[in-house]
Formats: sequence, structure tokens, C-alpha cells
Amino acid sequence: KSYAPYSDFRVGAAALLDDGEIVSAANQESEVFPSGMCAERSLLYYVQSNRSGRKVRALAIASLPASRECSPCGACRQVIADTEKRQGAPIRLILCGACSATVVESARALLPFTFKLE
Ligand code: THU
Repeated sequence: KSYAPYSDFRVGAAALLDDGEIVSAANQESEVFPSGMCAERSLLYYVQSNRSGRKVRALAIASLPASRECSPCGACRQVIADTEKRQGAPIRLILCGACSATVVESARALLPFTFKLE
């Protein structure tokens, strides 16, 4: 369900929640470029809004084209780290490519020196 007519880069993200439910989202672009949103943040904001109290156990990310494994941008890394901090448990990240995937056990590994407000 990606909407990416400007970049032609379609990203999908799926989250496994602690009750076994899997929810997904995709990147959404806008004619006003900065108003678009990445798949990962679309998904985590959806989970926070509609499944609050659920923990995200794992988050898989994939793209089309899939010439290499899809890894989150800096802003998404921060929001994944924020989510981990809030829920008090790590999120396993699965970075998918066409023929391979890398598993990272926590956003902390992807974003050292995470911003903290205070
Ligand atoms: N994009 C994501 O959905 N997730 C990322 O982590 C990085 C980039 C999207 C945003 C934009 O719609 C397209 O990929 C090209 O940057």
C-alpha cells in the first residue's frame, strides 16, 4: 500500500506485537515533499495510536526495488529507539533484501548516542 510516485521507492514495514498480531504500513509521499512519511514511522505511530500498551517485538522492513537490504533512515532509527525506551524492551529489526536479510537485535545497535530530551 505504498504511495511513492515521486521516488518510485516503495517501502513496507511489518511489526510483530506481543500478542502475536502483525500490523503493517508503507511509505506515503506528498506533493509537498517533506510532508511524506516513511513506512517505519507510519507503522510505529499507528501502533502507538491504535495498539497502545502492546509491545513491538520485531519490525521487518522491505523495499521495492530490493537491490539491497532496506535499512531505516536516521529519523526512523530515532523513533524505533524511542519506542524501545517507552516499552522497556528491545525491538528485533529484520532488514530484508531480495535474497537476504540482516537481523539486528535492538535499535540501540543502529543508533548510538540516541537523542534524549532532558
Ligand atoms: N523511506 C522509508 O519509508 N523508510 C526509510 O527508512 C527511508 C526511506 C521512504 C521515504 C520515501 O518515500 C522513499 O523511501 C525514498 O526516500
